[in-house]
Amino acid sequence: MSKPPIILAIESSCDDTGAAVLVGQVSKSNVTATQTVHEKYGGVVPELASRAHQQHIVPVVQEALKQAGVAIQEVDAIAVTTGPGLLGSLLVGTSFGKSLSLALNKPLLSVNHMEGHILAHFIKENEGSETPEFPFLCLTVSGGHTQLVKVTSPRLFEEIGSTIDDAVGEAFDKAAKILGFPYPGGPLIDKRAKEGNPEAFSFPEPKVPGLNFSFSGLKTSLLYFLQKQVKENPNFIEENKADICASFQHTLVTYLLKKVKKAVKQTGVKTIALAGGVSANSLLRSEFEQLAKKEGLKSFIPAFQYCTDNAAMIGITGYFMFQNQEFATLDISPSSRMAISG
Ligand code: KG4
Ligand code: ZN
Repeated sequence: MSKPPIILAIESSCDDTGAAVLVGQVSKSNVTATQTVHEKYGGVVPELASRAHQQHIVPVVQEALKQAGVAIQEVDAIAVTTGPGLLGSLLVGTSFGKSLSLALNKPLLSVNHMEGHILAHFIKENEGSETPEFPFLCLTVSGGHTQLVKVTSPRLFEEIGSTIDDAVGEAFDKAAKILGFPYPGGPLIDKRAKEGNPEAFSFPEPKVPGLNFSFSGLKTSLLYFLQKQVKENPNFIEENKADICASFQHTLVTYLLKKVKKAVKQTGVKTIALAGGVSANSLLRSEFEQLAKKEGLKSFIPAFQYCTDNAAMIGITGYFMFQNQEFATLDISPSSRMAISG
């Protein structure tokens, strides 16, 4: 058996700078520097993100190599996110990856961030970890995307549904902003919802046919509901915050799972998986498992460190591309929009 490749992976598509080292499918290090500079602006400021990536990228890569106990000359290939994401942020990682590839004379792998989220299920903590069998359905939920993807192989993806407006992570973050939480508010809604009643308030389920989603109407209905209540009681939000969080979260999760159930019925695929930042949500995780149990499906939920943006997921995608000899040339440039490989 040939030696498994050592992949150095770099992720800089949004506001987290990440580097990881994988030996085959096993993650030896996964380092992330989170940018806190955006909190006070209520969202990611692209220019500030690019600048922070420039500051973080060298120490983050050095730390990933150090933790893995790997010398840079031992690396067999460099995997880097080239899209989708913020162009300025992607440029920092892509330029760095290209420079390393040129300087070390090692191949470059150009990785799609959303494929990374999906393939995070194949990262092994050790050689024994269980991974999904193909085909499986993946609900990919992040700050920029909401997709239902049929995954036939590590290099074959088919989008069978997606949002027609906001992503579900955006719905969480916008609702959190209305409720006065700092950015990104998704995890704060999750935390606060634990003390609330999910049935306290109800919000109308979006009506989008088939396997597509819509979230912008839900955010607007929350806004109008709160405006009306605050007129009668200026302290309404403060007095009911936990119930509002729990009810809004419950509406989002119920809606997502209804579509997953529909996708299973439509495709006949019996394995379901979650991916992306919102898969860190505690209600979504537990309800996803419940759904699988009830419907007799096999379910896969990534470990917390592989849910939100990280470089190990870029490394595992790079690993499959390496096996497939899908190398990039040094004239590639990043792209803010990028479709998954089909
Ligand atoms: O995948 P990700 O780290 O970055 C993108 O590629 O967008 O996803 C970030 C999104 C944000 O909208 C954040 O609020 C949301 O994931 N998120 C959560 C939770 N943790 C992260 N949303 C709800 N509950 C959580 N626990
Ligand atoms: Zn992401």
